[in-house]
Amino acid sequence: MKIIGGSASGMLAAELARVLNADLVETEFRRFPDGEGYARILGDLNDEQVLLVQTTLPDPNIVELFLWQDAVNDFDIENLITVTPYFGYGRQDKAFESGEAVSARAIAERIELFTDEVVMVDIHNPQVLEYFGKPVTHLTAAPAFARHLDGKVDIVLSPDEGRMEMANGVSEILGTDTDYLEKIRHDATTVEIKTKSLDVAGKRVAIVDDIISTGGTLGLATKQLKEEGVESIIALCTHGLFIGDAMDKLYNCAEVISTDTVESEHSKISVAQEIADAIG
Ligand code: R5P
Repeated sequence: MKIIGGSASGMLAAELARVLNADLVETEFRRFPDGEGYARILGDLNDEQVLLVQTTLPDPNIVELFLWQDAVNDFDIENLITVTPYFGYGRQDKAFESGEAVSARAIAERIELFTDEVVMVDIHNPQVLEYFGKPVTHLTAAPAFARHLDGKVDIVLSPDEGRMEMANGVSEILGTDTDYLEKIRHDATTVEIKTKSLDVAGKRVAIVDDIISTGGTLGLATKQLKEEGVESIIALCTHGLFIGDAMDKLYNCAEVISTDTVESEHSKISVAQEIADAIG
């Protein structure tokens, strides 16, 4: 197997090469003065299974992915697996108003045009998977979270009921309790946020989410947890976008950790093992 790492996913591609004991292929990517990309594969991919890894955020990385797919298909390969660790445009899976782009469909249909298979991690809205006609492997970072949290927490929380599957996945591996935060609206202006059923006072908690974008969701949740008297908080997300002052909102957390689906200084855990296990 040969691995191509796009410029948004060099760290994950290198880790995949290590875990899979596969070759990380030498490539050249540069931009012309007007911003247009140039991609070239310097190794030989003939007769190989190829893993192309490139997160689709922000937009220039999507175009770069298309260039790599085109370059890969210049070889007589066995098959191409395109890994979009973070699938950007995973939010809008339908038109809510007439005339709207269904952006998840637009990106999905183009990605699958020039690949045999797709792999992605914790897509924001799993409904989007239905837009792929080719086989898609959808993974969760929950086992990677559990490896990091082993022995460090008493409770794994979800910021809302909708993300309980992820919190359950982590707590099942760790053998800890799990719960979610719920919003209780008292009147038009007063909303209380509290854990649904567990008393978290004095506990070491982890709160897990698929995305930290502006930090608003976990900022509010962790503020509330502090008020409930937790001993410590570790916040983990699969995709750390950390837009603007997101980190400032997470001041109550002892640690803020993301995976390498979106690479940043917070990418302290890797989903390479999960991807490697899934593709065999
Ligand atoms: C919501 O459905 C998601 O799971 C995340 O909680 C959300 O996208 C996080 O965004 P932000 O950091 O901007 O609150």
